[in-house]
Amino acid sequence: MCGIVTAIATRNIVPVLLEGLRKLEYRGYDSAGLAVLHNGEMVRLRSAGRVAELASLADNRQLQANIGIAHTRWATHGVPSERNAHPHVSAGLAVVHNGIIENFETIKADLQAKGYVFESDTDTEAIAHLLHHKLQSGVDLFEAVRLTTNELLGAYAIGVVTEADPFRAIVARRGSPLLLGVGEDGMYAASDTAALLQVTRKVVYLEDGDLAELRLDGYKVVLADGTPVEREVHLSSLSADAVELGKYRHYMQKEIFEQPQALANTLEMIAGGGSISAQIFGVSATESLAATRRVLVLACGTSYHSALVARYWIESIAKIPCTVEIASEYRYRESVPDPETLVVVISQSGETADTLAALKHAKSLGMSKTLAICNVPESAIVREAALRFITRAGPEIGVASTKAFTTQLAALALLTLALAKQHGRLSAEDETRYLTALRHLPVAVAKVLELEPQIEQWAQKFSGKQHALFLGRGRHWPIAMEGALKLKEISYIHAESYAAGELKHGPLALVDKEMPVIAIAPADELLEKLKSNLQEVRARGGELYVFADAGSEIPESEGVHILHMPEHYGMLSPVLHVIPLQLLSYHAALVKGTDVDKPRNLAKSVTVE
Ligand code: G6P
Repeated sequence: MCGIVTAIATRNIVPVLLEGLRKLEYRGYDSAGLAVLHNGEMVRLRSAGRVAELASLADNRQLQANIGIAHTRWATHGVPSERNAHPHVSAGLAVVHNGIIENFETIKADLQAKGYVFESDTDTEAIAHLLHHKLQSGVDLFEAVRLTTNELLGAYAIGVVTEADPFRAIVARRGSPLLLGVGEDGMYAASDTAALLQVTRKVVYLEDGDLAELRLDGYKVVLADGTPVEREVHLSSLSADAVELGKYRHYMQKEIFEQPQALANTLEMIAGGGSISAQIFGVSATESLAATRRVLVLACGTSYHSALVARYWIESIAKIPCTVEIASEYRYRESVPDPETLVVVISQSGETADTLAALKHAKSLGMSKTLAICNVPESAIVREAALRFITRAGPEIGVASTKAFTTQLAALALLTLALAKQHGRLSAEDETRYLTALRHLPVAVAKVLELEPQIEQWAQKFSGKQHALFLGRGRHWPIAMEGALKLKEISYIHAESYAAGELKHGPLALVDKEMPVIAIAPADELLEKLKSNLQEVRARGGELYVFADAGSEIPESEGVHILHMPEHYGMLSPVLHVIPLQLLSYHAALVKGTDVDKPRNLAKSVTVE
């Protein structure tokens, strides 16, 4: 979380910093700030609100500069306020930071003893003063940043500018993402590529421990010990359109409607072929998958829900035992390691601290068969895993995950088939049948999206409610969980999900006419069981909203609203059933007038524990 931008160029870089922050707002948006050298003097502007407020402050000051740093924040240390907003300064130098400095209290106490006065509650201010202290010892700026970062424990991506050294900006990273942009008129750095597309496509990914000096005429990168190092220049293929809203009102809406394309892109490798190859997970995947005796899937949030669906698939189709665990639990739990287990980590961003730590933990326990399913190819999680599958959803900006989820499901369906095949449990006939269903998935999703007008009407009714229950069974239970998560995330309506069979063991006590109950009713083998559960709700006066496949034969009646989904889609039905739940949350949030793309208190990539 938190986004940083750094720029040094012959043009006025103030608009570049602000536009970069707008693109990074998904990483945090509780305050924003910048520091630039305006006519040789450091000017710092900060706002406790959004980037738009910072932009109007910069406008009022008619700020112009050729070098500067900027930040958009998701608070960790210290409440969101102007005082805690970055940049943090220490006599003529300014620092922006993304990450958490674990030993900042020791550093702070030491600096306070030396006479430094702290103005904020942040860990970042300790970096600013420590850097100032290093500079006092006579070393140059670059060396001072290197010595400072070597004393930091935890994760950081930082940007530094100083009044005394106006011809270079310094950046460094460990744990938090940071890349350089090589421009025609100068050098840039940011937390992700989207922030830099406005000025360049030439990007250099920094590695953990790297330190870089940015000048008007170029840059240099060194390792933590000061040894110069070459890092490859990549030409980003990310299109500017991918990060623009276009005709849509919100990123979440855009991303919901991009799902057919995102799925088609993710499934491109099976578009023509008649068979599944384990190689799509990496060169050593054939061997790894064949030797897999168990699967352990680790993830957080929405990615965890995709893992839960996969458990049903892997056990029923590949017949391999599969457990799924929340990454933040697994990393601190005493578990029994097993080298024959394939450890799968799922993450949209590839940055989630708990998921990354869980992967490292599994490796430290001797589990070397690891696979990352991720939407960001250069991310830390991808680099840490032995095998990889990159979902091709394109950048997901809305905090509530949508297209990342359905493309993760597509990847997990491929993994299920590859495992089943390696273990001789996939007949040629089934392989063809599943692959055909996968190939048609984008079209099937597009059809479900056409149900939007009816869902909009349902959302009107929902928006007045305080609570909601979501029910599902089997592989649709995780979809009920995802529906409840979506609703609470963006509409702030309290929502819980239950395996429908559990209703009578407690939650039924909550059901009355004020409690809408949303049921996922695919025409599968559990339908009759689910219908009994729905009767239990109706008998207590609960109002039912049922997403029923054609063939489910649940009649509409007083208090029972039915939305008819297309034909049952077999194994892949969860991918279709999540779509109306995404739309329901989106429209409920619209009616409630919440900030859909930037819900309160949340952030897109959670790089802290
Ligand atoms: C945050 C986001 C969620 C996301 C979760 C895991 O909480 O708000 O939308 O599901 O992180 O993120 P990841 O990038 O690891 O999938």
